[in-house]
Amino acid sequence: MEDLGDIAWPPEPIRTERLVLREPEPRDRTAFVELLASPEVHTYLGGPRPRDEIEREMPETPERWPGSLVVDLGGSMIGQILLRRATGHSRPAAVGKADLGYMFLPRAWGRGYGVEACTAALGWLEDALPGEPVVLTTQSANVGSMRLAAKLGFTEVERFEAWGAEQWLGMRSRPCLRVEAE
Ligand SMILES: CC(C)(COP(=O)(O)OP(=O)(O)OC[C@H]1O[C@@H](n2cnc3c(N)ncnc32)[C@H](O)[C@@H]1OP(=O)(O)O)[C@@H](O)C(=O)NCCC(=O)NCCS
Repeated sequence: MEDLGDIAWPPEPIRTERLVLREPEPRDRTAFVELLASPEVHTYLGGPRPRDEIEREMPETPERWPGSLVVDLGGSMIGQILLRRATGHSRPAAVGKADLGYMFLPRAWGRGYGVEACTAALGWLEDALPGEPVVLTTQSANVGSMRLAAKLGFTEVERFEAWGAEQWLGMRSRPCLRVEAE
């Protein structure tokens, strides 16, 4: 994965009804450690890394790179959205495409934050790179992620085996143009 290339970064904070999507800051460090060390979060992501290793290696300002957005609820981080370019993807249909990833802290699950934050991130991406298709890879057993992908408008390209499990590759093409009422 690489960054998205020639786009202005960071964006102005992206505001939704309940959330703000913004660059990581030093105050997010504890939440990042929690996110990356959580066994629940990594159930379908190959398992968590050891917490002490994460603590040791985490810079003062964590995960600050183009395409990394903190999802902030009321001043506290509840998740991360990742917008990258899938340069090294194993599936030809995904290679070089913009790629969406997401992880939320378990206490924030099931309240619609995933849909709200990802919709806003995809809207920003559509403005930054008009017409670009976006891909998303998730384990097909990851029911919550599969449901979220469907709600965001991703449709199946293919399923494939990797990392010891069935993976689902979805794609979201250019959003439908609004048809003006006559
Ligand atoms: C997947 C994840 C991002 C979903 O976030 P979320 O904030 O709970 O999602 P939302 O509340 O916006 O829910 C989106 C839809 O998925 C459904 N959903 C969410 N989690 C679910 C679960 N575990 N089982 C069944 N449905 C689930 C919701 O009900 C909702 O559908 P609905 O509106 O039809 O009811 C979150 O569970 C997570 O961070 N998981 C760990 C990280 C991960 O696996 N990321 C995917 C990497 S590819």
